[in-house]
Amino acid sequence: MNFTLRIWRQQSANASGKFVNYQIKDVTPEMSFLEMLDALNEDLINRGEPPVAFEHDCREGICGSCGFLINGVAHGGQRGTTVCQLSMRFFKDKDGEALTLEPWRARAFPIVRDLIVNRSAFDRIIQAGGFISAPTGSAPDANAILVPKEAADTGFDAAACIGCGACVAACPNAAAMLFTSAKITHLNSLPQGQPQRDERTLSMVVAMANEGFGSCTNHGECEAVCPKGIPLEFIGKMNRDLIRALWHRHREPLVIPSVVQEPFHEHAGPDAEESLTLGTSDKRSDESHVNGNALAKGGRKENGIDHPQP
Ligand code: SF4
Ligand code: FES
Repeated sequence: MNFTLRIWRQQSANASGKFVNYQIKDVTPEMSFLEMLDALNEDLINRGEPPVAFEHDCREGICGSCGFLINGVAHGGQRGTTVCQLSMRFFKDKDGEALTLEPWRARAFPIVRDLIVNRSAFDRIIQAGGFISAPTGSAPDANAILVPKEAADTGFDAAACIGCGACVAACPNAAAMLFTSAKITHLNSLPQGQPQRDERTLSMVVAMANEGFGSCTNHGECEAVCPKGIPLEFIGKMNRDLIRALWHRHREPLVIPSVVQEPFHEHAGPDAEESLTLGTSDKRSDESHVNGNALAKGGRKENGIDHPQP
């Protein structure tokens, strides 16, 4: 089979990029997509031209490092398949059919070179709360914690996310909600994840917002291209956990590492203050129990709401 490859070439994040056409011949149906790119790169190197930069590691769909757009579709459009799992038999040789290869396009994923983008924004979301630091005992003790079958299944399904970024690339808003919801659901559904459930949800959602990803508007493109079948349902779970965490935070102070927290109601005006006062538990009348303890810092108390010093 012969193909025309139209590949995005960009030297660095700050350089301008452009599509460059390459002809590749004698591609066999048994070759994987990345093997086809390997053959192209060998040819480019032999000709003294810079090879096309693309990421890969496991080449079996588990590490999440590969991934780019093929003809505008993340991972090439084969359901449940990463780029490295694509076989050339999926592509028809129609008189040197053109295949367009370009990197993920999202503000939060700056291009490093050619088809490689910087996905460290995902790492920072995981760093914000994708862990369990509550003591769970030694390994035998941890194994003694019974996990309901349904929770184990949900946790396992969510843990399947490989962090490839296709969901962001496919979303018209470049939202990272499918990825973040998978990472939150993974731990929030397990008994071991309960002690830090609220902190985890708030921290990771705040981190996601700080990285410049967009918001979900229910297009469902993320689910359609996800190679691991992460369902939209997890975004609903994350939103429910977020409401739960915000409500608990209103009643009890939460300390979230590296996240500046202001009282939820601080600049909301008198009406909001009144409604919040109605909705608060008697814990709010305990002056020693204030998020940020405004009174201790010389603030004032009005309508049951604590105001920090201006
Ligand atoms: S949710 Fe799916 S598409 Fe998004 S990063 Fe995880 S595996 Fe990739
Ligand atoms: S190279 Fe690991 S998922 Fe593709």
